[in-house]
Amino acid sequence: MNDSVSRERVLSGMRVTGRLHLGHYHGVLKNWVMLQEKCESFYFVADWHALTTHYEEPGVMERNVWEMVIDWLASGVDPAKATLFIQSRIPQHAELHLLLSMVTPLGWLERVPSFKDQQQKIKGRDLATYGFLGYPVLQSADILIYRASQVPVGEDQIPHIELTREIARRFNRVFGKDAIFEEKAEQALVKLGKKAAGQFRRHRRAWLQEGNADALSQMIALIDKAAGLGDEERERLRGYSEGGGRSILPEPKALLTPASKYPGVDGQKMSKSYDNQINMRDDPDRVANALRTMPTDPARQRRNDPGDPDKCPVWGLHKVYTDSALQQKLAEGCRSAAIGCLDCKKPLVEIMLEEQALLRARAKPYEDDPGEVRRTIDAGCERAMAVAEETMQEVRDVVGTVYR
Ligand code: TRP
Ligand code: SF4
Repeated sequence: MNDSVSRERVLSGMRVTGRLHLGHYHGVLKNWVMLQEKCESFYFVADWHALTTHYEEPGVMERNVWEMVIDWLASGVDPAKATLFIQSRIPQHAELHLLLSMVTPLGWLERVPSFKDQQQKIKGRDLATYGFLGYPVLQSADILIYRASQVPVGEDQIPHIELTREIARRFNRVFGKDAIFEEKAEQALVKLGKKAAGQFRRHRRAWLQEGNADALSQMIALIDKAAGLGDEERERLRGYSEGGGRSILPEPKALLTPASKYPGVDGQKMSKSYDNQINMRDDPDRVANALRTMPTDPARQRRNDPGDPDKCPVWGLHKVYTDSALQQKLAEGCRSAAIGCLDCKKPLVEIMLEEQALLRARAKPYEDDPGEVRRTIDAGCERAMAVAEETMQEVRDVVGTVYR
């Protein structure tokens, strides 16, 4: 099966943050695992993006990169199905970033919501830098260089994908063969005479919009009949009748990843910044203990006080893990005080420890042999580079920096 032709290409990147937690797993990574089954998938470590905000801590990057990749592999992201790589290993991203920056107006970047938000939110760092302003241009390069059609991202990234589309459109307009091709084809059309040119345009619409094959042969007949055309013009019109050139950098679509509802051990959204996470490869005792001490509905002071699952942080975990029959039983038990909170937590502890065991088992070969992680990434980088370089050859050509 030649799947690179028929399958959609998806691409996503993750900034380096170190070890990933269960919120990442249930939110982002399971989605990646699902996508690798039906799409040609590219997943990469966005280490340059991490540097735009954390350039003052270069020393922690390396360890964090490998820990994060092991977490990907633990989640079931499969290097035999998806291409896994590191952004900075593919310098073509930086080259395209530079070339895209030529056609990106400053105003577009200053308007990106994350630019001002993050500057205000992230205190104690100087983010009034050129690199940080260019963050979404680099992201555009990441996406466009693989001609990805779908980009799985969270809500906060939607403006970046929108910007990517605008930059692609602008690039294609400025450098695209399309624009020039169309202009020249229209000039050639004029030579057919007014009437035939009008017919040609109507046929072209019928062909492109309705797939009317008869309209296509009518166009060819018009070209063959026309007297005043040179060979090159005839060729161009034949190409034009079929549809015209493709874009150099196709516009991608965002594939919205639903926001993770995975609760942290304090009931807020699980996040490193709240320090309420359970890591994907955590210590089993720590997991069991975190669950045991996790707060429940405050109304249940004593064992005999009835509770309400909707007011209980632990219930958020049941929604992730527990089948609906058991959920119903536990909810009734809670409301009638027939069960205590420890009874309610027990099945969760079991299933979460099982999950941890699975994640650890998948990670183990890589933890035991760090060389295996490196080799996996080397292979991914090689595949990614071949695709990126192919795009860049075309890009260098159209921007005019190829000197033979
Ligand atoms: N900016 C993204 C984030 O913070 C990470 C990222 C970098 C990315 N390049 C990308 C995501 C390309 C999708 C596609 O989550
Ligand atoms: Fe929460 Fe379960 Fe206790 Fe009810 S019984 S308060 S749902 S832990």
